[in-house]
Amino acid sequence: MSKFYVELKKVVDDSYDIEVGRNLFDTLVNDLKGELGVGISKYAIITDSNVKPLYGDKLYERLVREGFKVDLISFPAGEKSKVRATKEMIEDEMLAKGHRRDSCIIALGGGVVTDLAGFVAGTFGRGIPFINYSTSILGSADASVGGKTAVDTPLATNLIGLIYQPKKVYIDLATWETLPKEQISNGLAETIKHACLADKVFFEYLEEHIQELLEPNGIHNHAEVCEHIAEKNCKIKYEVVKQDERETNLRQILNLGHTIGRAIETLSDYTLLHGEAVAIGLAMQAQIGEKLGYVSTEEVERVMKLIEKAGLPTKLSDDMPTDKVVQKLYTDKKVRSGKIRFVFQEGIGSVKQFEDENYSIALEEDFIREIIDEIR
Ligand code: GLY
Repeated sequence: MSKFYVELKKVVDDSYDIEVGRNLFDTLVNDLKGELGVGISKYAIITDSNVKPLYGDKLYERLVREGFKVDLISFPAGEKSKVRATKEMIEDEMLAKGHRRDSCIIALGGGVVTDLAGFVAGTFGRGIPFINYSTSILGSADASVGGKTAVDTPLATNLIGLIYQPKKVYIDLATWETLPKEQISNGLAETIKHACLADKVFFEYLEEHIQELLEPNGIHNHAEVCEHIAEKNCKIKYEVVKQDERETNLRQILNLGHTIGRAIETLSDYTLLHGEAVAIGLAMQAQIGEKLGYVSTEEVERVMKLIEKAGLPTKLSDDMPTDKVVQKLYTDKKVRSGKIRFVFQEGIGSVKQFEDENYSIALEEDFIREIIDEIR
């Protein structure tokens, strides 16, 4: 018998740049010709069926013209594609096309694309580099930044995945101009979440400007609002992730509105978009928070009004019985010792900190059921 101690302490530098701008293909090409492309022999652009005809084909042709070896892999758009079967399809296609450990993935699209492609990158050849090129408000506010990658399972969203950081993130505001109105609203839910949990001044800014983005040509005509929103989202998220990358505690605050949000997104079989589900979850945590004394009635009204201004729902639909919602809450990643946990905003622009510096609190099932019945 023998026993070995494997000493393997690591210092890892996973720092990366986030570049916010318009029409960033030139920047990307220059970066790939420079330091970002060092050691890479081949690129796989991973995108979805909505983004491929808009930007995927163009990026592919551009990279081919620039002399890069590149493949373009697309899957059907929508949350329902964010599953293990799609991951396998992409992996098999990459293998068949000769991708190996000297490849790099360019995830081109919204949150579904960057979550899925990042997860592929994290396990392909035991980990290859990936770059996020975000083309949606939702993706730029949340999924493209912070390194969470995942797929959904029939039980719930994002249960299988990795924390795996991209080498660079591009947020191309020009691509927001091709978003349909429902996707503009969809993206704004995570933006409202950031304002609720971290920045009162940003919340007031959104109260003044959010509706401008939903006007006809609103994204084009209010480029400065888009830029401000994109930068604020990145900064707020970055401040949290740099302190707690692996969500041991603080990063849970980015789950504001997601305890109920994720549950109803899955229950709706993804007929609710992620942002719509989060909007309802945000409205409900504010109302539950009011009962618990964390926010005032006036603050709840402001949160509800801002969500409505963004064209998002605040109420559970009748076809979602309270019992089913409560049961689904047990699939949440924050559940500890069989208890459902919630994050709450405190006033506007801050989060409630509980005993032992915890940022989430366990609530009894009966209390949750009662309160959902009352506010729904
Ligand atoms: N989407 C929440 C987080 O990145 O932690």
